[in-house]
Amino acid sequence: MSDTLRTRVAIVGAGPAGLVLSQLLADAGIDSVILDSRTREQIETTIRAGILEQGTVELLRALDPGTRVDTVGHRHDGVELRFAGEGHRIDFAALVGRSVWLYPQHEVLIDLLALRLGAGQDIRFETTADHVEGVDTDRPRVVAVDAGGEQLVVDADFVVGADGSRSVVRAAVTGSQTGGYFREYPFAWFGILCEAPPSADELIYSNSENGFALVSQRSPEVQRMYFQCDPEADPDALSEAEIWDTLQSRVPGTTLHEGPIFQRDVLRFRSFVAHELRNGRAALVGDAAHTVPPTGAKGMNLAIADVVLLARALRALLLEGDARLVDGYAAQALDRIWKAQQFSWWMTSMLHLAPQSSDFDRLRQLGELRTVVDSAAGRTYLAEAYTGWPLPTSHGD
Ligand code: PHB
Repeated sequence: MSDTLRTRVAIVGAGPAGLVLSQLLADAGIDSVILDSRTREQIETTIRAGILEQGTVELLRALDPGTRVDTVGHRHDGVELRFAGEGHRIDFAALVGRSVWLYPQHEVLIDLLALRLGAGQDIRFETTADHVEGVDTDRPRVVAVDAGGEQLVVDADFVVGADGSRSVVRAAVTGSQTGGYFREYPFAWFGILCEAPPSADELIYSNSENGFALVSQRSPEVQRMYFQCDPEADPDALSEAEIWDTLQSRVPGTTLHEGPIFQRDVLRFRSFVAHELRNGRAALVGDAAHTVPPTGAKGMNLAIADVVLLARALRALLLEGDARLVDGYAAQALDRIWKAQQFSWWMTSMLHLAPQSSDFDRLRQLGELRTVVDSAAGRTYLAEAYTGWPLPTSHGD
């Protein structure tokens, strides 16, 4: 059995990128169908990162009157860089007049799913895209399998891969499942969620002799923290006491508030940019197009920035028959993507202890950190990049 649906834009992936894109398209009168292999509950409960740039927050507020970013989220006007036993605050508000918001991605997704489903958006959960056909025609289609095991074909004018780092759409855009530029790192993050009061008001990014740690928050009762670990580490191999000893030893100068750990995971990371972001009538956005290590807190923000550009390009193509912005999409998106790659790589390499690093490497790293915090130019670069470069406006400049 096979069912065929007709829509203007077939979006694979109901993450932040796919959902924001469907809203921007709907605002322009362009209908879309979203497919996602997960259930709504899985999408709403998967723990991901939590920092939103100021531009992302402004966009969410404009699109979604129900967003809880200002009630459940917390504005942060700075972060702390900790090294050689001392903390140095990077004051975003004073340096660049901008801030970031700590608002976990799954909360963003709860808001966006409610918004889109409330507006009647067609979202097919538990529907797994298998492949994309006809991207070099003006009738591309997604071939998928629905929750009941039936084939579903979505016929569209354009297909968007917002389907994450294991994207199925990518093969139709780059010609292969993996085709891209990438870099692996010789470490990963051990992440925990614990029941404890916050140990700091703002995030602490700590370079210590024993390796990197990040103190983040979730709410007055729940905290999120990470420490650098081996990519092969087994998250269940450490006792809670060992986890706390590791964390405490990596944030010298602060006594962390400890509490029961109710979630632990090992996050492997790498930098990736697909060789192509667009091929004919298909394009990639978000993690399908690129992944960044989490140290720069750029992942979700970069996905939203892609979508703002692509929505504008699809409006021109589908409402006015003007393909120029779609033709320019990859080059324009890549400017920001490579800046974000650079920032994420830089934060990662400046803060982590690479295995086999020599005393020279370590002392040079401290020199680099000191160069940043001692210089208004250094602090301002970090503040500008972390709070986010301005988003393109939705009207074309
Ligand atoms: C988080 O709170 O999960 C978080 C914050 C900042 C990062 C990465 C993750 O750079």
